Amino acid sequence: MSGIVVFGAGGRAGRAVTGEARQRGYEVTAVVREPSRYPDLGADGVTVVRGDVTDRESARAVVGGHVAAVHAVSPFSGPEQGFDTLDPEFFVRAADALLEGLAGEGVGRLVAVGLFANQLGADGRPVMDDPAVFPPEFRPFALAHAAGLERLRRDGESEAVDWVMLTPGGGLEQGAPRTGRYGWGEERVFGGGPESGPSVLSYADLAVAVVDEVEAPSRHRVRVSVVGAVGE
Ligand SMILES: NC(=O)c1ccc[n+]([C@@H]2O[C@H](COP(=O)([O-])OP(=O)(O)OC[C@H]3O[C@@H](n4cnc5c(N)ncnc54)[C@H](OP(=O)(O)O)[C@@H]3O)[C@@H](O)[C@H]2O)c1
Repeated sequence: MSGIVVFGAGGRAGRAVTGEARQRGYEVTAVVREPSRYPDLGADGVTVVRGDVTDRESARAVVGGHVAAVHAVSPFSGPEQGFDTLDPEFFVRAADALLEGLAGEGVGRLVAVGLFANQLGADGRPVMDDPAVFPPEFRPFALAHAAGLERLRRDGESEAVDWVMLTPGGGLEQGAPRTGRYGWGEERVFGGGPESGPSVLSYADLAVAVVDEVEAPSRHRVRVSVVGAVGE
C-alpha cells in the first residue's frame, strides 16, 4: 500500500493521523521541522523527515511518491504562546506550498485540518465574532486560518489537487477514546442543531475521518465540519 505524508506529524492531530494510518497499513512519512525533537516518532512504517509546510521547495521535496498528503500543522499550540510571532500569512503560504508541491509531484489528494472558529455559531454568526464562544485575543489565529482556507478555495480549483478541509465542528479532545465513528456537520459548529450542544470529537476520531478521506474521498474542494457521533 502506498504511503501518506503527514505534515505536523509530531503534533496532536498529526500523531493521531499517523497512528490511524499505520493501523490501516499505510506507510507514513512524518514531516517535522526538527527531527531531533521527535525521537519517539519514528517506528515501523513511519519515516521521519525534516520539512516546513510553508516553504515551497521543502514541501515539494517530501511529498513525491505518496497517495495523499495530510496538513495537520499549526503555528499556535496553546494560549500561553501568544500571537506576537504569528504570521498572518502562515496558512496561505502553507496552502501555496502544498498545492504547488502536490501538483508538481503528481500527488492528487490533500486532506487539511481546519479550525472551528471560522464556522458559524448557533446564532448564525462566525464563531470568531462571538466573544462568548471564542476569545477575542485568539482572533488573529482564526483570521490566519480563514485566509488559508480562502487560498485553497481560490487556487485549489484545478483538477490537479483534490483538497478537502476537515474542521472539528466543536471541541477537540486529546486522550478521548477512538470510537471509529463521527458525523458530518455543515457550516455550523454543532452537529445536531443548537439544542444538541457542542459535539466533542476525539483527535483519534478526527484521524479516522482524515484517513477515510484519503482512502475513499467523499468530499471534494470544500471545507466541511466533522463532529462527534451522537448515539449508537
Ligand atoms: N476545534 C478545532 O477547530 C481545533 C482544535 C484543535 C486544533 N485544531 C486545528 O488542528 C490542526 C492541528 O492542530 P494540533 O492541535 O494538532 O496542533 P499541535 O499539537 O500544536 O501540532 C502542530 C504541529 O505543527 C508543527 N509545525 C508548526 N509549524 C510548522 C511548519 N512551518 N512546518 C511543518 N510543521 C510545523 C509543529 O511542530 P514543530 O513546531 O515541532 O515543527 C506541531 O507539531 C491545526 O490547524 C489546528 O488549528 C482545530
